[in-house]
Amino acid sequence: MKIFIDTADLDEIKKAYGWGVADGVTTNPSLLKKAVGKREGVDLKQYIKEVLSVAGNTPVSLEVTETNSEGMVREGLKLHQLFSEDGNVNIKVPVNPSFEMESESDFEGLKTIKALADEGVPVNCTLVFTPEQALLAAKSGATYVSPFAGRIDDLLRCNAKLKYGKTDYYPAEGLVEDHVLLEDNGILSGIDLVQQCVELLTYYDLNTQVIAASLRNTRQVREAALVGAHIATVPPKVISAMLRHVKTCEGMQKFTEDVVEEYANLK
Ligand code: G3P
Repeated sequence: MKIFIDTADLDEIKKAYGWGVADGVTTNPSLLKKAVGKREGVDLKQYIKEVLSVAGNTPVSLEVTETNSEGMVREGLKLHQLFSEDGNVNIKVPVNPSFEMESESDFEGLKTIKALADEGVPVNCTLVFTPEQALLAAKSGATYVSPFAGRIDDLLRCNAKLKYGKTDYYPAEGLVEDHVLLEDNGILSGIDLVQQCVELLTYYDLNTQVIAASLRNTRQVREAALVGAHIATVPPKVISAMLRHVKTCEGMQKFTEDVVEEYANLK
């Protein structure tokens, strides 16, 4: 499984590439706001060029901010044209940009994906919460689909009025509360969503890769890998947590104590 780093923070991106673990970068307007907010007066164009230069030829997702197809296509083409000489840019497009459950603009995302794909611009379809959204995005020509695992777990816990912390683990196989298995239209957890997307796209040989997104803890990353996600996009804090284990610390301490002088001084 490839690991993308889910941040727009240049220092964090540099670190992850320095460790050799990053195969790409994903950003979104909220991540960009957080990263740029720390750097007053930043030249955003230059900043994005630096991100692309650190990422080399690995994919970097930049998200559109318009909410209709005309605007998203225009913005996607502009971003691609502005930055494609500096790296491997792909454009993040919401599967459905509508703010309401039923709206005239339901198909604006798919129209945008098709138009950009027809122009040879790779698209990462974002805000995917069902396998059927992933199927439609794949058919429209998306290179990647991003099911948001953590936000499905949020939804299941909120609907059941459970108290939880953002990084708390939610069981991949689902959770029973008051003798009822929690689900969202047949989706039992964020990882179940990722798995169903992978299975569906693989079954029909669709050439679209699944990016497990909105991952909040290390166990979700492990489970995303075990259900065959092509890619996991992981926040820097979760990457750090992936390295830790109490027995690793304990073992390290003991090995350090036990070093014999002659061994340390071997010439
Ligand atoms: O990859 C999508 C991600 O940035 C959203 O994560 O934790 O805000 O749901 P989160």
